[in-house]
This record gives sequence, C-alpha cells and structure tokens, in this order.
Amino acid sequence: MAHSYVTTPLYYVNADPHLGHVYTTIVADVWARYRRWLGHEVFFSTGTDEHGQKVAEKAKEHNQTPQEHVNHYSQVFRAMTRGLNATCDDFIRTTEVRHHKAAAAFWKNLEESGFIYKGSYEGWYALRDEAFYKEADLVDGRAPTGAEVQWMSEECYFFALSKFQDPLLEWYKTHPISPASRQNEVIEFVKKGLRDLAVSRSSLTWGIPVPGHESHVMYVWIEALVNYLTVLDYPNTQSSKMQNFWPQAVHIMGKDIITFHGVYWPAFLMAANLPLPKKIHAHGWWMVGEEKMSKSLGNTVSWKETLKYGEDPLRYFLLSHTPFGEDGRFSFSALEHCINTDLANVLGNAVHRVLSFLHKNHRGCIPGVKSFDPTPLSQWQEESDTKLHSFMEHFQLHSFAGELWKGLRLVNQYIDQEKPWACVGEIQGHILRNALECLRYIGLWLRFFLPTTSETMLNLLGVPTNERSQAYLHASLHDQVSLPTPTVLFQKTTL
Ligand code: MSP
Repeated sequence: MAHSYVTTPLYYVNADPHLGHVYTTIVADVWARYRRWLGHEVFFSTGTDEHGQKVAEKAKEHNQTPQEHVNHYSQVFRAMTRGLNATCDDFIRTTEVRHHKAAAAFWKNLEESGFIYKGSYEGWYALRDEAFYKEADLVDGRAPTGAEVQWMSEECYFFALSKFQDPLLEWYKTHPISPASRQNEVIEFVKKGLRDLAVSRSSLTWGIPVPGHESHVMYVWIEALVNYLTVLDYPNTQSSKMQNFWPQAVHIMGKDIITFHGVYWPAFLMAANLPLPKKIHAHGWWMVGEEKMSKSLGNTVSWKETLKYGEDPLRYFLLSHTPFGEDGRFSFSALEHCINTDLANVLGNAVHRVLSFLHKNHRGCIPGVKSFDPTPLSQWQEESDTKLHSFMEHFQLHSFAGELWKGLRLVNQYIDQEKPWACVGEIQGHILRNALECLRYIGLWLRFFLPTTSETMLNLLGVPTNERSQAYLHASLHDQVSLPTPTVLFQKTTL
C-alpha cells in the first residue's frame, strides 16, 4: 500500500490562532484527505511549539509559569484543529516526554557525527522570528522581516551548517520545494554562503536541555523541527511509522519559515544521516490591506470568526480565491461574495435545479438509460480527469477548483440548452441522467476539498457510501434509485 505523510508547522503558543494558522491547517487537511481518497495510508500531524524565549516572555507577561501558559494555548490550538474538522492523526506538543527524548537523541546523533562544536555567539537576535541575524542583514536597525532585534552575546554550541552548501544545492536539483519561485529564492540564499548556526542558548532555561551539557537548552528551531520525526517514533528508526512514512514526508508551511524548512532542516537531516523530505510546499500570506495578518500588528481575524459561515465556504474561499504560494487578501465581504456566486449560484443551483426537476417529473427516481451518448458533460469529465489529478499533485489548488467549477457551469449550460422541460419520456430521462452523472463525478472530486458539501451532495444523489472513493470516478449511478427530497446546499448571505 502507498503511504503519505503530511505535516503542518507547530504553532507558537503565544497568542490565539488566526486565519494564517487556519489556512496552513486546511491546506494540509486537503492533502491528507486527498491521499486517503486515492487509497493511501496517511499520517497527518500537527501540534504546538512550546519552548523558546518568546514563549517564556509571554508567560511572564501573563504572570504565569511557562508550563501553565503553554498548557492553556496548546488547548486552544487543539480546539482549532477540531473546529476545522482537520483529520489529524497526531497532535504533538514539544513539551511532551517523547519529544524531549527524540530531540536529545537527534542532538547526540549530530554531535557524534562531528557537526556540533562549542563557541560563543555575538550578534543580533529577533525574538519575534526566534532567529539570528548579523549586522549586514539588518534593515534600518531591524531584522529583514521587520522584527525588532536585540544584541546577544553568550556561550553556545554551533551546528556546522557551512559544510552543507554543496549538498543542499545538489538536493535542490530534485525540485523539493514548491512553488518554483520559492525554491529559486532558497537557492539564491544558499549560494550566498551559509554561516554556522548557533543551536543552543545558555541564557535561557525554558527549553530542552542539551544532553551532556545541561547548562544549555537547545535553540527552539532545532528541536521544534525534530517533531516531524518524534511523531513517527524516532529515535526508533526501525519502527514501521519511520520506515513507511518518513520517506514520504510532505511539509506544508507559510513562506516566512521556508529557510528553516528548506535549508536548516535538510542540513540537519543530512548530518544525522536520515532521508530528506519528499516535498516542501510554502504558501503565501493572508494580508489585510498591504500588511501581513499577524498578532504583532494587531490585524488578525480570529479562527472562530473565520468559521462564522461554516467550514466549507471558508475552505472554498481560502483554496480557490488565491493561487497557492501567492499572497491573498481576506475580507468578510469577499467571502460573502464567493458564497453567493460560486457556491450558491453555481454549485447550489446546479444540484438543486436538476434534483428538483427530477422530483417533480420523475418521482425522484434516477432514470435508467440504455446507452450513454457523448455529451459536452461526458467529454469534460474525460478531459478533466488527468488535469484534476495533476493540479492536486502540483498543489495548484486554485486551478483544481477552477476546473471543477468549469464542470458545474457546463451542467447549468447543458440544462439551459437541452431544456428538459420541453422534452418528454426517454429524451428527458437522458438529459437528466447525464446531468446527474456529471454531478456525481464532481461530488466525488469534492470529497477532500469540501468534505461536508460532498457528503450532502452524494447523499442527495443516492451514491452508496462505499462508492465514493477515487476508484469509482468512472462508475455510474444506479438505475431507478429513489432519491431523497433535495435540500439547499448554500444559503445566500446578505452583503
Ligand atoms: N513555531 C514556528 C514553526 C515551527 S515548525 C517546526 C512558527 N509558528 S507560527 O505560529 O508563527 O506560524 C505557523 C504557521 O502559520 C506558518 O505556516 C505561518 O506561515 C502561518 N501563518 C502565520 N501568519 C500567517 C498569515 N498572515 N498568512 C498565512 N499564513 C501565516 O512559525
């Protein structure tokens, strides 16, 4: 059986989740559901990043111990995962014992391989990014990301990142990072030269102690990245999870953390002599006006608010409105517009007009037909199949939606042109059956994209629950099945 492993980043527990976090989780959920739909055994993990200076300082601000603070926020992120109906198989917290063990084993592995050495760090540190910068990186006294920096001078351990420039450039030839524009940026970054990376802090205690050097804790990024292995039972590299899922790893994240995933993480893995992830997909940012939505700018839309029109409308908007990888602009009026047009007028209308006509004129019974002559609908179905798979495999989620909505518009046009109300008997039955078959096909493709809508659609179309996987795409409805009374899929909202 084919295996798939998909991850979200671990979310920082310093504030409530917002639309940016929601988006990363939804994209990963689409991929996990898609691969399951194809028949793969899937492992989908998410969780919370609970160590580091930023979290320690937030806890202090709230008059809490770091542990109290992270316990609270981790639950909030767990609630978001549940609220979005994300089909995660694991939710990891970096404060768990299993993660301490995995991170310590990973560190020892790097040390034994000769890639860790002791030194001292002098330079700038941006708390918001939990990242180190040198003088030349600064723009107007701030990090290139706009984050405030503070001077840091302390004894620490280094990872010999500079040794990995050529191996990384070689790896990029296999196109592991998408979209291509992001991969090119990463290549440029690596070509400029890599400096060794400070990977421990001796002025901080809220972290995982460095094994054998307990006055240091690990730099938060080095241990947080190891979570992708922890959930697969690392350091037991022989476990079935490590063996089956790790070589299939697909990491999903926003473009702000591509250097950590596309440069540091593969270098750590090479040093630890472990296989590299299969693919890294970096999405763009959700913006409010010209600014990235972020807690520090105070312009966030809370995760609960995003769900006020339901999960599927939100999913559809986020996935189809902006091409994956590009920045998108969020507003409730744009979401409402999308519900009224694409969801209510196109999808809802296509399903409702065909089914209500069938109820009025055929007692809700699927008309049996002797043969299926080619129609614009069957032609589209044939041509779209390869395209839809390719859009999914290449994370072109926006084009995937575009192709399905092309099919839905064709259904509406087909009914307008063929005018079943002006026909009788077998001819009318044929027209309806063709439209119903096309809706069934679209309903199957929506399984992972809009799961709740797909479920309702396929129930209304009388598709047996065991005939909803990819294997049934080219099957057909069953003659003479009696369908339930149609319901409205999407209510229009008032602008
Ligand atoms: N803790 C690190 C990740 C460690 S992974 C080993 C982190 N956490 S985060 O909470 O700041 O961000 C998590 C995810 O949310 C990232 O994918 C990030 O890109 C995403 N988003 C946060 N704000 C965003 C937007 N405004 N728009 C889209 N996604 C953004 O980084």
